[in-house]
Amino acid sequence: MTLLNVADEARRGELVPSFPVSWYTDPEILEIERREIFAKTWQYLGTTESLTRTGDYLTVTVGDVPVVVTRSAEGINALVNVCRHRFHEVAQGSGNARRLACPYHAWSYDLEGNLCNAPRETRFENFDKSQFPLVKLPVAVWGQMVFVCLDQDVAPLQDWIGRLQDVLIDVGVDVTKLVHRKRTEMTIKGNWKVVAENFLECYHCAPAHPSYTKAFDVATSEGYPFEVNQDWMTARTLPRDVFKQEPDKAPYNMVGPVEVNQNDYLWPNFATWTFPGEGNLLVYSFTPVSPGETVAHFDYFLDPAMTDDAAEKLTEFVDEVGWEDVRLIESVQRGVVGNAVPTGVLVPDEGQVVAFQKLVRDAVARAGR
Ligand code: FES
Ligand SMILES: [Fe+2]
Repeated sequence: MTLLNVADEARRGELVPSFPVSWYTDPEILEIERREIFAKTWQYLGTTESLTRTGDYLTVTVGDVPVVVTRSAEGINALVNVCRHRFHEVAQGSGNARRLACPYHAWSYDLEGNLCNAPRETRFENFDKSQFPLVKLPVAVWGQMVFVCLDQDVAPLQDWIGRLQDVLIDVGVDVTKLVHRKRTEMTIKGNWKVVAENFLECYHCAPAHPSYTKAFDVATSEGYPFEVNQDWMTARTLPRDVFKQEPDKAPYNMVGPVEVNQNDYLWPNFATWTFPGEGNLLVYSFTPVSPGETVAHFDYFLDPAMTDDAAEKLTEFVDEVGWEDVRLIESVQRGVVGNAVPTGVLVPDEGQVVAFQKLVRDAVARAGR
C-alpha cells in the first residue's frame, strides 16, 4: 500500500479566488443547492439498527421532503411520507407497524407503500387503489448505512460509493465487518459549504489541531497527499514514527491492520475518516437546515472486537479534533455573514477545496445564476 501520488508541482501554484462570500449566507443559493445538488445525490440517512424487524419504520426529512423508511418482508423501502389523498404526513416518528395509517382521513398503506384501505371507499366510483401508492424512492444499503435519493434516475449507489469502498479495502477497512458503536449529532452554526471545505484541507491542521498534528505527519504539504477524482476526493497521512517504537505513547491504540489515517469525501455531503489501528470508520455527514446552520452526524463503525476502553480512547481523540473544527467553522460563518470581505483565496494545499468550489459553481450555473 502506498501513499497517494500527488506530484509536488501540483502543490505549487497561483492563488485561486474563492466564490463570492454571499454564497455562504444567501437563501436563494441554498434553494438552488437543494434543487441542483441535494435532490440529485445519494443522501446518508443513518443506520439499519432500528430497521431490523419487519414492520420497523422511521421518518426523516430529505431536503424539503418527508420520507419514511420501512422494513418489509422484502427488505428496506424509502417512501415519500406524504399521503396520496391530501398530503398529510402518513407516518410519525418511528416504531413498528404492519400498516401505516394516515392520521387525517385514515387512508392506510402497507410497508411497501401500496394503498390498502380508504374509509367509505365502496362509495367511490372507479377507485383503483393501485393508482395511489406512496411514492417510492431509490434506497440502498452499504454495510449498516442506509442511503436514499430524491431523484428516481440516480445512478446506482455502488457507482458512487464503490471507489471509496475499494480504497478503504486497500487500507484494511472492510465496512461490512464493522458495527455501529456511537452516534453524535450536532447543529453547527455554519453554512454546509464551510463544513465541507473545512474537511477538505489540512492546511489548517498544524495551527488548529495540536493533538492531531502531534500524532500525524500533517505539518507539511508532503505529509498530507491528496487526490481529486471529480466527485470523490481522498487524502492520506501516516502516524509519526515514534509510535512504532513506542506504541504506548500513542493517544489511542494505533496497533492493528489499518496503518494510515485516510480522509475521504464523496460529493456533496458525505465524508469518512479511518485511523491507524483496529478496524474503524468514522462517518461524517452534514446537511443544511438554513444558510447559516448545518446538522452534522458522526457515526462510529468499529471492529466488534474493539474493547470499550479502546473505543473510548479513539472517540475521545477524534472528538477533540471534531470540536476544534466546529469552532473554526463557526468563526468562519461569523466572518462571512456581514459580507465585509467579498471573496477569499485558496492556496495550492487547498486543491480539494478548489475542486469542491468548482462542483458548487457548476451546480449554481445550471440554475442560471
Ligand atoms: S390526507 Fe391522508 S387520508 Fe386524507
Ligand atoms: Fe480540521
